[in-house]
Amino acid sequence: MLFEIAKNSHFLQNLVVKFVSSVHPSIEHNLVKVGMIKKAMFHCELEEIEGSYFEFGVYEGTSLYGALKTYQKLKSKQERNFYGFDSFDEGFKYFDDADHHPYFKEGDFKSSYEKTLKRFKKSKNVKLIKGYFEEVVSGKRPSEICGADRCAIVFIDCDLMGPALVALSFVRPILERGSVIILDDYWAYKANSDLGTRGALNKFLQDNPEVELTEYYKYGHGGISFIVTNL
Ligand SMILES: C[S@@+](CC[C@H](N)C(=O)[O-])C[C@H]1O[C@@H](n2cnc3c(N)ncnc32)[C@H](O)[C@@H]1O
Repeated sequence: MLFEIAKNSHFLQNLVVKFVSSVHPSIEHNLVKVGMIKKAMFHCELEEIEGSYFEFGVYEGTSLYGALKTYQKLKSKQERNFYGFDSFDEGFKYFDDADHHPYFKEGDFKSSYEKTLKRFKKSKNVKLIKGYFEEVVSGKRPSEICGADRCAIVFIDCDLMGPALVALSFVRPILERGSVIILDDYWAYKANSDLGTRGALNKFLQDNPEVELTEYYKYGHGGISFIVTNL
């Protein structure tokens, strides 16, 4: 009945189309981003993938909060810690000229470390690590920085190739078969396979030929995820 009315009514169709087109794409993307993290968390639950959640590019902590809430709602058997890495008050910085991008500009995406920390003040299993990845984690092992020895999910949401590669290399020693790698903005830099998070993943796979990934889900505006199928 409703379908019949909608089928014959341009007024109703215009109303729906106006509503859908008025929602900003970044809002849609951020909603399905949390949905992607939820899928990955559920996968790790079903497959009994142990270990922590790592997020590189936290900004104000919304997706990290989504990961934490998803985990809490699942009443998981696994003990998981949540590690969020970001420069926070500094935003983006180009350590490599190739990272230049009209939307991801130096100094943009600054957020308050203190305010973000407050968002997680009740959660003992959340740790925020402040600083540029290039300075804080490059060449280090996760055990030195946060004590983690397993990574169930790594979410790379720092957009630029340089820091994304540092992040992937950092977690490499603690990835497991079944771990999930999520990459945001995979098609940025006009989908150049040498730039952005796509470029970082390609370089990471060249540097670590033993790592085999299988595509899992695509989500939102340019997000993609993989399951580690061999190490
Ligand atoms: C798109 S935002 C992250 C959004 C967040 N995951 C969310 O959905 O709520 C990208 C973040 O990456 C961080 N970032 C980019 N390059 C970085 C680097 N080299 N070191 C540390 N943080 C970096 C920026 O500071 C920014 O907060």
